Amino acid sequence: MSNVRRIFVIGAGTMGHGIAEVAALRGLNVTLYDVKQEFLDGAMSKIKWSLDRLAEKGTIKSSSEVIQRIATTLDLESGASDADFVIEAAPERMEIKRDIFSRLDRSARPEAVLATNTSSLPITEVSESVSAPRRGRVIGMHFFNPPVIMQLVEVVKGKYTSDETVKATYELAGALGKQPVLVRVDVPGFIVNRVMARFLNTACLMAERGLHRMEEIDAAVRYGLGMPMGAFELSDYIGIDVLDDIIKAMIARGFSMTPCGLYSGMRSAGKLGVKSGQGFYAHP
Ligand code: CAA
Repeated sequence: MSNVRRIFVIGAGTMGHGIAEVAALRGLNVTLYDVKQEFLDGAMSKIKWSLDRLAEKGTIKSSSEVIQRIATTLDLESGASDADFVIEAAPERMEIKRDIFSRLDRSARPEAVLATNTSSLPITEVSESVSAPRRGRVIGMHFFNPPVIMQLVEVVKGKYTSDETVKATYELAGALGKQPVLVRVDVPGFIVNRVMARFLNTACLMAERGLHRMEEIDAAVRYGLGMPMGAFELSDYIGIDVLDDIIKAMIARGFSMTPCGLYSGMRSAGKLGVKSGQGFYAHP
């Protein structure tokens, strides 16, 4: 049983808006923060779209009942001040996370858990941007896209994370209807991304080297491994920029792999996958 009643979600992008939706679906009050009103407006439309799908299927009565539990703000300090649990889902850059966590250190309640949804950056490094007494309250809480559908939450213990914080995060994941898995060692990419980055990168290298066409690799993955999406479909879904950041962050911290050259070229050309309308495939 989780004691959390009010969640503050930082970042209204793909993951942040999905996490806010999951929390509101489970009856929690949520405040969603981003730096521009247009990001918050875009997030609220996506949440409404998703809730409408659930309402059509009869999973919920109406989207408006859930949406009313989500407030939005452009003020990080006031959003943090009354939250029991904070989940940061900002872009995957350490300097951004450090800035956010040092601001949370000054504005969040002392007992609030400060979680990061980072997919590849070390929790210990993030927690070093808060003052020593608070470091035990910093933890990784890594959701998967789309959060409303994917069951897993990786709960990542950093060097300073207290057992009490792990317990509170497990309880919250359970209250959100998710399956938590403990990541005991704070290694780059945790569990899933260490497996997935190598898998997607290998598929990409095969196409880059002209060994197979991406459509053939995707069909083989779908029908041979029973995955819901092929490797290139999944890369587009995750976002080429996100994937590129994950792979770079893992390599920078000693993970050994040869990155597929197509990612950085696609990134500079703005071919980011589903969100930009073009990635490996076209997404009209
Ligand atoms: N909200 C509500 N409903 C949604 C939804 C959303 N955001 N997304 C999909 N759905 C619903 C659809 O409406 C549809 O419902 P019906 O069956 O009733 O029509 C159903 O889910 C299936 O969706 P689609 O028909 O559009 O497509 P699909 O069958 O391919 O399912 C998918 C979509 C659930 C995303 C599925 O393809 C899938 O599971 N893909 C793999 C996703 C994955 O691996 N995610 C992890 C990525 S890694 C990550 O996130 C971590 C990281 O650090 C990068």
